[in-house]
Amino acid sequence: METTLEMKSNQLVMTSSLQRQKWCANQFLYKFQNFWFPLTYLEATQKVLENFKPVPKDVILASFPKTGTTWLKALLHSIINRSPKQDYNNNPLISNHPHDLIPSLETNLYDYNTKKTEFLSVKNHKDVRILATHIPHQILGDVLNSSECKVVYVTRNPKDTLISLWHFVQKSKSFGDDPWELEVAVDQFCNGIVLFGSYYDHVLGYRQECLKRPQKVLFVTYEEIKENPEYYVRKIGEFLGCPFEGENGDVEIEEIVKFCSFENLSNQEMNKSSELSSMFPLPYNSFFRKGEVGDHMNYLDDEMIEKIDGVTREKFHGTGFVYGI
Ligand code: A3P
Repeated sequence: METTLEMKSNQLVMTSSLQRQKWCANQFLYKFQNFWFPLTYLEATQKVLENFKPVPKDVILASFPKTGTTWLKALLHSIINRSPKQDYNNNPLISNHPHDLIPSLETNLYDYNTKKTEFLSVKNHKDVRILATHIPHQILGDVLNSSECKVVYVTRNPKDTLISLWHFVQKSKSFGDDPWELEVAVDQFCNGIVLFGSYYDHVLGYRQECLKRPQKVLFVTYEEIKENPEYYVRKIGEFLGCPFEGENGDVEIEEIVKFCSFENLSNQEMNKSSELSSMFPLPYNSFFRKGEVGDHMNYLDDEMIEKIDGVTREKFHGTGFVYGI
């Protein structure tokens, strides 16, 4: 279906005719540069592209939704802001939800409210801004490459990502009583019609950039961090130029892993809160569900699994990225 988006005069004018598809909860997604966006994120993405200028010390956490963004926000904050005598009882992650502490470009900083835009000119005490984004590399690449900033990309296997997303969107206030049938969700996911999708193209865009510029982009997976969090905390520290050294480094890594674990973070009052978060019409606790690898097996039947695996084989394995099955 073709439609023309009419923007108000004080917003960015988009003259192109964009393809539109119904997604879930009576929401529409719009196709922009081969990816699908809800209208609000599309407008925000346009603003990011027009206005965001990364500086060399910026650390950008990029991800497709539901692949471990919240966890990585906590890990990056802890790795970058650690101090020799860290007092974890006073850690900002105790009193702040990770999403309030580390803003996302399109959902916090360049959304229609732009209420937190001042963050962009504020530097924390380590002189590093940690910013997150779901915008695909195919769209944001030129902006990211306009400075020496570092990018950490996290991904997760497609079936757990979809199940996590399926649970998440149904917690939305805007969902109403329109059910998002899992069968429909699987088909949409396989066809790439999902917010910031296609998932596969999103992952491949950042992966290719990591292969091209390994000093600039670090590509990690949810499953490998789960398997060996200490190794990845060390690796992220090295990648960001703040390596863990000596015995003290080993202790710091252990503390960060424990502090950022699902068990610990999901039990903090702020993260348990059913209050609506400041950036989405969703409760704070909706970002912490189960935090496990393989939960899709509790929801997807054999036919759904075969359908997703088929696309994974074609999209990932077919391009030499053996992941996701
Ligand atoms: P589940 O729905 O499978 O439980 P995102 O942060 O990108 O929105 O991803 C959310 C997923 O990460 C959810 O997965 C959530 O439970 C999980 N998660 C959140 N914090 C985590 C943590 N500290 N460790 C591991 N997983 C975490």
